Amino acid sequence: MKIAVYPGSFDPITFGHLDVIARAAAVFDRVIVGVLINPRKTAASDSEARAVVVRDAVVENLGDLSDAVDVVTFDGLTVDFALDRGAGHIVRGLRAISDFESEIQMAHTNRKLAHGIDTVFFMTALEHSYLSSSLVREIAAFGGDVSGMVPAAVVRRLRA
Ligand code: PNS
Repeated sequence: MKIAVYPGSFDPITFGHLDVIARAAAVFDRVIVGVLINPRKTAASDSEARAVVVRDAVVENLGDLSDAVDVVTFDGLTVDFALDRGAGHIVRGLRAISDFESEIQMAHTNRKLAHGIDTVFFMTALEHSYLSSSLVREIAAFGGDVSGMVPAAVVRRLRA
């Protein structure tokens, strides 16, 4: 069974993340989305609340593919999370060349830490490639409309 983890902050999940989850779920038997518990980051909501939103977004948008997706929280190293879950691959999305520099550093570091685990990149769909969680947070903070950028589950959460 080919298992992949997809780690991230998902603060909040965007249509770009959702697109990566769907494409990963079409390739791997099981995709475990890991919502990072990171005390150093200023999270708009706590990690469990972020995970609930990710779970809702997956179920509401991915149809049958959602059966292959689990959503959990994790802390510590991504490679330890992957090893704990029996995953051989880490999934990440690449929006633009600007992502590449930090992503290749992370991929090499993770490979140094755990040789058996490879990082696989999906190119975020072009229509979502401008999206970032931080921009969504900023727009939402000023009362702007983010409904075209994030799944309905996020919009509901922001309204609440
Ligand atoms: O959504 P993000 O914030 O770009 O995700 C970053 C994430 C969670 C993938 C990265 O910060 C991470 O893997 N953190 C866990 C700690 C860790 O393993 N650090 C070493 C990575 S090289």
